[in-house]
Amino acid sequence: MAQSPSLPKYLQDDDVSQECRDLLPSLPSEQGWVGTTLHLYQGFWVGPRHLKGVLACQRHFRAQDTDILLVTTPKSGTTWLKAILFALLNRTKYSGSGSQGQHPLLNHNPHDLVPFLELKLYVEQDTPDLASLPPPRLFATHLPYQSLPQPVRDSKCKLVYLCRNPKDTCVSLWHFTNKLRPKERGENSLQESLDRFCRGVSLFGPYWDHVLGYHKASSETPEKVLFLKYEDMKEDPYANLRRLAGFLECPFSQEELREGMVDEILRLCSFDNLSGLEVNKRGKLASGEENKAFFRRGEVGDWVNYLSVDIAEKIDRVGEEKLHGSGLKL
Ligand code: A3P
Repeated sequence: MAQSPSLPKYLQDDDVSQECRDLLPSLPSEQGWVGTTLHLYQGFWVGPRHLKGVLACQRHFRAQDTDILLVTTPKSGTTWLKAILFALLNRTKYSGSGSQGQHPLLNHNPHDLVPFLELKLYVEQDTPDLASLPPPRLFATHLPYQSLPQPVRDSKCKLVYLCRNPKDTCVSLWHFTNKLRPKERGENSLQESLDRFCRGVSLFGPYWDHVLGYHKASSETPEKVLFLKYEDMKEDPYANLRRLAGFLECPFSQEELREGMVDEILRLCSFDNLSGLEVNKRGKLASGEENKAFFRRGEVGDWVNYLSVDIAEKIDRVGEEKLHGSGLKL
């Protein structure tokens, strides 16, 4: 049945390709967190509209050796890292006296400056023209490692992976999806959301499989995949930004360090600065999400305000089982 065109784009689940329409009935499905359904494709959960983007991106994206891909689990700080990467890679262009006034991050949401492959570029068009973009091209994706387009794995392009403690990720996801759900569908309960998260039924989940896939890739090919944690970024943003710059082969020069470039980028991309900007208080993405939905508290350990000890222990147990033997602690 056709859905109302007055729905924001991100809720238009019937806006899918024929290939997607043919595939959907064969995929296991569950109730969606935001839209009506989620489907299990190649071992991860995705809504119909985004599945269309996944299929097109897997088929058509041609990675270049100079590409940089930010990969995240949803709600692990994607918006923050998009801002940091954009500011880092464009630091020569926009730094210096007077030019801060025109920095694109001051009047654009980071999601508009660093587009998602499967959630934006390949949803809007089957074959977007990306070949003419100047290097280094900077994109984002939530795709699990095993489902990345093959050219991404075959090329020398670099992957920056960011994850976050599962309890904070889940609480953040619960808040975010409730903001995005149409009012008439009511809110997801926290209990139900936690159960689904623990069962692996979350956007691009199972969460633990996602993290493990990139953790393994980073251990095997550290020059290709940088594995970052939100908590480490919060604890020592200065050192981690320098580490990021080194990994991307654009380290800060002595002069930049002396002039305070690292702190300048961190200030520009800070939660307080970004969340207070007019564009992020009142603007919307082209797909309809309000920019302010991407900024809530931006703190480590906020889960204690929502989860009982029992529930927290349950998530920890699931994590311990999943991560057993990997050497990874979240
Ligand atoms: P909370 O809901 O815990 O506040 P994503 O960008 O992947 O959607 O993740 C959103 C989470 O990152 C939200 O977490 C949001 O508040 C937080 N966030 C957004 N911008 C941030 C920033 N500049 N610094 C730190 N955290 C930020």
